[in-house]
Amino acid sequence: MCGIIGFCGYLDAKEELIEGLSELEYRGYDSAGIACFTKEGIRIVKAVGKVEGLRNKLPVNMESGCGIGHTRWATHGEVSEVNAHPHQCGRVTLIHNGIIENYHELEKELEKTGRSPKSKTDTEIAAMLLDSLYTGDVLEALREAVKRLDGAYAFCIMFSDKPDEIYCIRKGSPLVCCVSQDGSVVASDMVALLRYSKEYFVLPEFMVAKVTKKTILVTDLEGNLITPNILSVHWDMSAAKKNGFKHYMLKEIHEQPEAIARTLAPRIKKDKYMLPDFSKDGIDDAVFAHTTRIIVAACGTAMHAGMLGKILMERILRIPVSVEIASEFRYSDPIFTEDTLVIVVSQSGETADTLAALRLAKEKGIKTLSIVNVKGSSIARESDYVLYTHAGPEIAVASTKAYTAQLAAFYLLTFRFAYVTGRLNEKEVSDYMEELSKTGMLMEQMLDQKDRVRELSKRLTPARDLFFIGRSLDYALSCEGSIKLKEITYIHSEAYAAGELKHGTLSLITGGVPVIALATQGDVFSKMISNVKEVRARGAMVILLIKEDNQTLLEEEIFDEKFLLPAGNDLFAPFSAIVILQLLAYYTSCYRGLDVDQPRNLAKSVTVE
Ligand code: AGP
Repeated sequence: MCGIIGFCGYLDAKEELIEGLSELEYRGYDSAGIACFTKEGIRIVKAVGKVEGLRNKLPVNMESGCGIGHTRWATHGEVSEVNAHPHQCGRVTLIHNGIIENYHELEKELEKTGRSPKSKTDTEIAAMLLDSLYTGDVLEALREAVKRLDGAYAFCIMFSDKPDEIYCIRKGSPLVCCVSQDGSVVASDMVALLRYSKEYFVLPEFMVAKVTKKTILVTDLEGNLITPNILSVHWDMSAAKKNGFKHYMLKEIHEQPEAIARTLAPRIKKDKYMLPDFSKDGIDDAVFAHTTRIIVAACGTAMHAGMLGKILMERILRIPVSVEIASEFRYSDPIFTEDTLVIVVSQSGETADTLAALRLAKEKGIKTLSIVNVKGSSIARESDYVLYTHAGPEIAVASTKAYTAQLAAFYLLTFRFAYVTGRLNEKEVSDYMEELSKTGMLMEQMLDQKDRVRELSKRLTPARDLFFIGRSLDYALSCEGSIKLKEITYIHSEAYAAGELKHGTLSLITGGVPVIALATQGDVFSKMISNVKEVRARGAMVILLIKEDNQTLLEEEIFDEKFLLPAGNDLFAPFSAIVILQLLAYYTSCYRGLDVDQPRNLAKSVTVE
């Protein structure tokens, strides 16, 4: 979720860039930098940590009217000044928001031209590529570069022989532009433009913006002029930080495909096969080779990610995996064996109970690996190994994109573990990784159903009790669906293993009680349908989630509402199903007129016992 800004105008560029980066701080970052055209040429200043630290490093005599600025949320390469943007190679200086997926391949190729990177970033490889293609004609160099770059990008580029000009091009990642009396401004989102103008345009993909003091000229890659569609916003700053969504939670639900892509990309190595690769995370294969038992310790949603990870890991790795509620685990005097791996999961990396569970494992000399979203957080710092999720800052108390990014992390770990221990061969791992890499697209498809979900949530609004039922992966998912609904709608909700209903809870199922039934797993599908019939026979209002390739198996109308999930390997159904459950909770909370982002009694990170 990097932040980018470019300014070319009549004010002090370094001041404008620092202000702009300050506006973008909410996106989350760990380092920042700017580059400006000055009388002495392009000057670059970078700093790890906060924008304020960067401001304090700026030389007083850095007079300029044109420059670019960047806040970095590290994915490829650790947090360091050398990895911070802008990156420079020869006559090219650039900043980047996005992920270059084929940077390994490009790096090998460019080394033959005598260019070698100073940093560990995919962005520097892009600068090297552009420099290798640049002979003074910007469009020609960009035409060639976009043919070679795979992935998502929004670039702001300065060429040392083109003073006081900034060139931009994007694919996938956002870039908005405006022209004002103070100058021309481009940025990764509206928040950084609001100070200058409420009129802006989105740079169309593969179009080139030439930014100068007075104008922003947009052409296609052949140089044909394009007239962009001018938009205007009436957002205030708060709305802008939600990117126009009504709540952070809805914004973050929609960010999930990107969050998963960012979490996966630095861990995917594509050669003949697509394999998970943790070399950039410092997680060596020995961690897996010497593990015969896994304990997952976490709280709330993070624990639910662990529940799903357990089923996945046991099914594929055939080793025992237990999932512990961290607040119980820390006082349970747990039994460890020498080859135990403790995995702690935490979005914030500061949850007191989870941190205590981690410390307990470490006291006993047990190796620990954490799945964490916030860089440099306590749990990340104290774990032996860290697998960061790159979901970006999660503002809403109800966790959504962090959860699915945690799932992605568990899938990566499972497939690498299986590869290292020979449980799966390269082809089998690669097939799974192909499926995993498509989950973001499947989630996009489910987001298209939001209008149907919103309509349905009206019917849930008056509910007093509500049940989620499922088996296997669907049971773990039910637990997450239930906490999502409960914590933001205040409706009493329970998740139940569907086969367990008749052992007591079925007595609570009466006329009109909503039951959300997840039936995505083929191996237990018929059993699940029997359970649906049980609750239906007692008058439940059934909302059924099934995969589209299973709907022919439905004998008769046993549901009030049905959501079809994309066909495909059952193992990946949770990524699609969870979007429906998150949206259901979100819209029900909206209809109940509640504070979706800050529900009563709850905090984003529970740093106390
Ligand atoms: C999730 O929607 C809740 N906000 C809560 O359960 C949360 O997952 C839990 O407190 C753990 O937080 P962490 O991931 O930051 O450790």
